Amino acid sequence: MSPSPAIRTRNIRRAFESRKGFLFNEVVRTEALKGVDLEVDPGEIFGLLGPNGAGKTTLTKILSTLLIPTEGTAEVLGLDVVRDAARLRPQIGLVLGGERGLYNRVNARENLRYFADLYGVPTAERSRRIEEVLERVGLADAADRRVEEYSRGMKQKLHIARGILHRPVMLFLDEPTIGLDPKSARETRKLVRSLVADGVTIFLTTHYMFEAEELCQRIAVLSRGRIVAKDTVQGLRRLVGGDRTLEVEGYGFEDAEVNALRQLPGVSRLKYEEFGPRTRYTLRVRTTELTPPAIQASLSGHPELAIRERRTSLEDIYLDLVEEEAA
Ligand SMILES: Nc1ncnc2c1ncn2[C@@H]1O[C@H](COP(=O)(O)OP(=O)(O)OP(=O)(O)O)[C@@H](O)[C@H]1O
Ligand SMILES: [Mg+2]
Repeated sequence: MSPSPAIRTRNIRRAFESRKGFLFNEVVRTEALKGVDLEVDPGEIFGLLGPNGAGKTTLTKILSTLLIPTEGTAEVLGLDVVRDAARLRPQIGLVLGGERGLYNRVNARENLRYFADLYGVPTAERSRRIEEVLERVGLADAADRRVEEYSRGMKQKLHIARGILHRPVMLFLDEPTIGLDPKSARETRKLVRSLVADGVTIFLTTHYMFEAEELCQRIAVLSRGRIVAKDTVQGLRRLVGGDRTLEVEGYGFEDAEVNALRQLPGVSRLKYEEFGPRTRYTLRVRTTELTPPAIQASLSGHPELAIRERRTSLEDIYLDLVEEEAA
């Protein structure tokens, strides 16, 4: 029997009502989530991708008991996020980031002391635990400075320290590396991997495709409140139509030539972009047979063609999925 999932949601919906207009008398209803079904396995790093406003933070907040769904149910670690919220909270960590949620007037160590009490970290262990997380996120040297003096990246690290202080078995990270410089971002990804090695399950959102590709076993793409795809990166590559991406660039293509390109064997998708007088066609290709010489042969009137081949990246896949959804 497979172990029960770390997260399981059924038809999660969430609407927000806000007031607009001159007298705030116009009620606007936004459906942030329109029926989300997800399963996350214990011990995996699950990535949630999606454009701004797709509903990622809303879903993260629902799963971490900060928001109640309008409809549907969600279980985390076998506990219902609404009914069993009080029992679930000590077992999960949440890192939302941003300016809020930290005490600016005191230093990092004092911040963590406060949260340790809040999370019920045993007094005997408190100091050791605080030093350990400060070290782990790379804030040990700055731990005596007031948080108001911190850079955005340092605050983000403190948010992460706070999120793991009570040793949660499930950690929610909403854009964990936003605002971090490349070195700090890399250290944070390393930290995420070390947490997983300790048995923690991670649910993370990100706008950085390479980060998702590097860290996540499985990825879901959320678009306008709906999951439009979920799979491994390799599975998503197959879904959008192939491992290989060929870029064909030239001048003044006729419609018939474009159709010929589209109909070449193995081509599953064709997009074009214009750069001044030049046009670039991007082809997703399923087979290995379609080679640059074969493309050149089918466009014999274009000796100027430049053809490049690369592996379909998660960013290509993501854009295909999100553009398809918007079409
Ligand atoms: N408290 C709120 N009141 C009204 N609308 C809200 C509220 N919170 C979120 N929304 C709306 O719900 C939708 C989803 O927002 P959400 O913050 O979950 O998106 P997101 O995917 O996290 O976006 P981003 O990538 O920009 O962080 C948006 O249309 C947003 O305006
Ligand atoms: Mg968000």
